[in-house]
Amino acid sequence: MSTSNSYDTDKVVQSANFLKSRMNIKPKLGIICGSGLSGIGEIVCNKTIIAYKEIPSFVESTVPGHKGQLVFGQISEKDVICMQGRFHPYEGYEAWVVGFPIRVMKLLGIEILIITNAAGGINDSFNVGDFMLIKDHISFPGLGGYTPLKGPNDAMFGPRFPPMNEAYDSRLSNLWLQAAKDLKFDSFMRRGVYCNVSGPSYETIAELRMLSKLGGDAVGMSTAQEVVTACHAGMRIVACSLITNKCIMEYDTKETVSHDEVLEVGKKRAKDMEELVVKFLELVQLD
Ligand code: HPA
Repeated sequence: MSTSNSYDTDKVVQSANFLKSRMNIKPKLGIICGSGLSGIGEIVCNKTIIAYKEIPSFVESTVPGHKGQLVFGQISEKDVICMQGRFHPYEGYEAWVVGFPIRVMKLLGIEILIITNAAGGINDSFNVGDFMLIKDHISFPGLGGYTPLKGPNDAMFGPRFPPMNEAYDSRLSNLWLQAAKDLKFDSFMRRGVYCNVSGPSYETIAELRMLSKLGGDAVGMSTAQEVVTACHAGMRIVACSLITNKCIMEYDTKETVSHDEVLEVGKKRAKDMEELVVKFLELVQLD
């Protein structure tokens, strides 16, 4: 576990070398499980589990519903590495920490990253329990300077000024939609723009109305920093939100949103997300 609070390439190398010494597979596929969606890690076959606290330079996740471990093995007969528990800016981590596991995955050989998360639905046509394939994001922390790429560029991973217009890979996104279609999930498979906010407080009504006006379809407290880190490192990304609650956009209502509700909906739809990941991994071709 890391004690020093600045980014250092050696830390990434140290974590990756430790993991390589414990792995007997060479996965090209990485998966990040969102809140309430850690069941994806449970369906990994021939599992090896390594707690974050065992890995040199790694940090520990503090959020209920997040396990804090890496799982290696196979899904759909393809080698995968799965993060059960991610690092959120609101936990107090520096931005580089949030991106750190992604760079470790890069050194382990990961080329494709599947990211899942729980999000609040802003788009009025979305229902609780819908999936939203992320086509793009707006990161308020990122625009405000909270980005894992801040500071000296680590050229081992990518360029100083990486483009983000193709951050969400179109071929992988089409494959994800195909997987949803094959499973007859089309009726609750949406597509939209993910707004990343810092949290941990949920948004005010005025903030949500602003996000809606800016083109946001869903809102959540994760993912964007991981996507920026992975895209910088040349990884291909597909990301999907589970809409766990409808955002409250009107005044004078007794409705509210809570983390328990988010986890509860996660539980109900978790199996569907697992099936989607399995199907996607069946379809995906590795070079
Ligand atoms: N807002 C922010 N993050 C979230 C929400 C929300 O409504 N639901 C799940 N994660």
